[in-house]
Amino acid sequence: MRLITTLEDLRQTRDGWSRQGRTIGLLPTMGYLHAGHLSHARTARAENDIVVASVFVNPTQFGPNEDLARYPRDLPRDTALLADAGVDAIFAPTADAMYPAGFATWVEPAGPLTERLEAARRPGHFRGVATVVAKLLLLVGPTRAYFGQKDAQQVAVVRRLIADLNLPVELRVGPTIREPDGLAMSSRNVYLTGDARPAATALYRALTAGRAAFDAAPSSADAVREAMRSVIAAEPLATLDYADVCDPATCAPLITSEAPALLALAARIGSTRLIDNFLLRADGSWDIGQFTDARHAE
Ligand code: PAJ
Repeated sequence: MRLITTLEDLRQTRDGWSRQGRTIGLLPTMGYLHAGHLSHARTARAENDIVVASVFVNPTQFGPNEDLARYPRDLPRDTALLADAGVDAIFAPTADAMYPAGFATWVEPAGPLTERLEAARRPGHFRGVATVVAKLLLLVGPTRAYFGQKDAQQVAVVRRLIADLNLPVELRVGPTIREPDGLAMSSRNVYLTGDARPAATALYRALTAGRAAFDAAPSSADAVREAMRSVIAAEPLATLDYADVCDPATCAPLITSEAPALLALAARIGSTRLIDNFLLRADGSWDIGQFTDARHAE
């Protein structure tokens, strides 16, 4: 396992792999890893000669009132977990290396995809994500890049970014990994203390209700939205941000509920903002993610 912190070291190491004709899998992360991140590391391990994980808390994707300063960080722990998952190298640059003085060029996603859901609540978020992902893809030059369905709109933005900028990389999307009670794994789950932790299952319960409404009356997207909303409303510690049914590629709202569809949810549990989703694929099958406890798997 190599720990790479400078752009020079990355370039040299990467050139060595290229000369040897190795395929490279890249897993971009902000660290404080959990089983969701590690599931992508294992997939990448199986599909590539070399696996690189980036660990970088990207300041440009956080809003001024967001949790950049307190976002959890533990590089020694991340290094041990990634080594265990068979990752070959960690790229952990400083913010100054990624955004040196004079930095002025942004990758700015536009259109409906970046006007709705997360984009509407977090101005500039996807500009920060698209810019750092483009930089990481150009720096590492992977054959394949691994992202999680947990961040469905991010997947849609990255898919567009790769297509629009003709980046020579294959996008691979892995399922959402969940705790045994349904809570989607997230580095931010460390903020959920006391009663907030059981209350946080409201997102999974709401999506489950939305899915049932979808299957019972596959005509009204509003009935699905209402089913999700009522579960969140019944949870005293939860405040709904949005509950939507939309096109997974564009995030445009659906009027009739038909496949493919993304059931997307954001809610605050106390002061912690969480997002989650279920995906109804074009073939009519649901992707609701996978449980760390195999007994719950579907
Ligand atoms: P981060 O939140 O660390 O997530 C890194 C990757 O892990 C993302 O692709 C995310 O969708 C995926 N992931 C998160 N939780 C997951 C879960 N429960 N199951 C499966 N996959 C999960 O997303 C980011 O970092 C950043 O925006 C980044 C892409 C690194 C750009 O800074």
